[in-house]
Amino acid sequence: MLHWSLDRLENLLSERYTTHEYDVLIIGAGGAGLRAAIEAASVGDSVGVVCKSLLGKAHTVMAEGGMAASMGNVDERDDWKVHFADTMRGGQYLNNCNMAEHHAKEAADRVHELEEWGALFDRTHDGKILQRNFGGHKYPRLAHVGDRTGLEMIRTLQDHGIHQGLDFHMEVTIFHFFCEGNRVVGALAYEREKGRFLLFKAKAIVIATGGYGRAFKITSNSWEYTGDGQTLAYDAGADLLDMEFVQFHPTGMVWPPSVRGILVTEGVRGEGGILTNSEGNRFMFEDVPPLYQSSTADNEEEGWRYVTGDKEASRPPELLTRDHVARKIVKEVKEGRGSEHGGAYLDIAWIKEHIKDSESHIKKKLPSMYHQFKELAGVDITKEKMEVGPTTHYAMGGIRVDADTQMSTVDGLFACGECAAGLHGANRLGGNSLSDLLVFGKRAGEYAAKFAEGLDSFSEIDSDEVNRLVEEALKPVDRTEGENPYLIQQELQETMQDLAGIWRSEVGLKEAIDRIRGYAERAKQAHAPGNREYNPGWHTALDLHNLLTVSEALCLSAEQRTESRGGHYREEFPAKSEEGSTYNTVVRKARDGSMEVERVPVVPQSDEMKVIIGANE
Ligand code: FUM
Repeated sequence: MLHWSLDRLENLLSERYTTHEYDVLIIGAGGAGLRAAIEAASVGDSVGVVCKSLLGKAHTVMAEGGMAASMGNVDERDDWKVHFADTMRGGQYLNNCNMAEHHAKEAADRVHELEEWGALFDRTHDGKILQRNFGGHKYPRLAHVGDRTGLEMIRTLQDHGIHQGLDFHMEVTIFHFFCEGNRVVGALAYEREKGRFLLFKAKAIVIATGGYGRAFKITSNSWEYTGDGQTLAYDAGADLLDMEFVQFHPTGMVWPPSVRGILVTEGVRGEGGILTNSEGNRFMFEDVPPLYQSSTADNEEEGWRYVTGDKEASRPPELLTRDHVARKIVKEVKEGRGSEHGGAYLDIAWIKEHIKDSESHIKKKLPSMYHQFKELAGVDITKEKMEVGPTTHYAMGGIRVDADTQMSTVDGLFACGECAAGLHGANRLGGNSLSDLLVFGKRAGEYAAKFAEGLDSFSEIDSDEVNRLVEEALKPVDRTEGENPYLIQQELQETMQDLAGIWRSEVGLKEAIDRIRGYAERAKQAHAPGNREYNPGWHTALDLHNLLTVSEALCLSAEQRTESRGGHYREEFPAKSEEGSTYNTVVRKARDGSMEVERVPVVPQSDEMKVIIGANE
């Protein structure tokens, strides 16, 4: 028997969304989002955390080998100044130097804080947090937990976060921001499971949605990483910075095809792993840059790692920066000296010549890698070589933010972690991402809470506008025919891999831009059969706008950078140019809705910074 009044029934049927209000809304529950949420909640703000997937499933876990912080536990010569200089050199001096300074100065405190909250790190013999070598870092600097550091970070932040009164909305995807003038005031989302819509009113919003590796065919990123935060910010009027700089991690799995792209941590090379080609040559010794050259590679303790044949280096050349190693592997493959399935060989088993009981040593230091290769490829890494090749791993480019507050160029809209840009310049050093998440997650949470404090009430959001956006979002489900969103996504990934990947050219980038614009037209007619409950085709159709936006931004930025630097390599301009070191690239939405690209001067270094960099060249 129906007891509801007609009015109530009418209301229920016309209610197309539920409304939530938070002082601070955090989008993304990886390391940066969780750290920001903890900080904002610590001053008593109401904090909502939205995550596209289940809590705990974040790309943070793919930073396996460690968290960079100059604690000096293994080499006491390390300090923030050396870390700062290494980060700037790694970023080829396009970094926002003020962010690099904050990061280098604050990383150690964030690691200790994480330890206080329960993170268990590997230890030195005298009980300090153990630190390992990673590419581009002068001293062993990566605090780690075997090869599961990102996982330990997420576990700790989650355990700590759930006691701070945070509201979690899992499997919820934000697809629109509402603004009042140049200030963000809310966000609209759908639930994956039921297809219901949620309106969030917020005084401040922190974007921590990670990168956009899914724009490429071969990637270490899982399905969530479709450039959502960058696109939401761009559509709301924010600037995107340095979108041409994408990191291709040199070592992803290459075989079997179903696991291609899965990360093989740099920790393998940090523990002494060497790269060889099909002829058995340790090809990384071929062009060792000046910084790594040495006529005294006779370090008694570790010299065995750095000499091969008549070639030598002051540090293992496998630990050159990622852009360099990735290109060297591709070169070996192109010149016919690749591994059986088109990569290079990575060998950690060889350390048996130097380490007693190397089998247990490898299993202890690299437990995930041991299981990953055993279970997915049938390879025992304690005895056999791995096959590896580059995989799209990380976006250095992203939302342009203020170095101190992490606020974007839209008021009340903050960004931290991979979706924000500036810290890493043209190339990120391994291990600097986990410390980035903590340092700038904390800052974003703190300043978002301060911003919210300045506002008395929530802004009104027009319900007709919300209903119109809901209808628009449902079009792929409502259509009776149209384009298959998966096919558009697949074609885009192939285009980006072939034309905007490790090797780029003007002709290729122009072709990619034409194709992307064509895909965008087709995406307007995307059709996802079925209903709105757990319909991944529908979600893919909605994700396409984000993937296409970041891809176009990337290609336009790459087209205008006529040089090679860090994660950006142009075939016609294989060297760095002097002009290239003077500007960053900004992409924003023009008044007519088109995408415009501009060059802006690099943030100037203070005299003190110049001295620090000079002293650490
Ligand atoms: O290789 C790795 O473990 C990845 C670390 C990172 O990207 O920071």
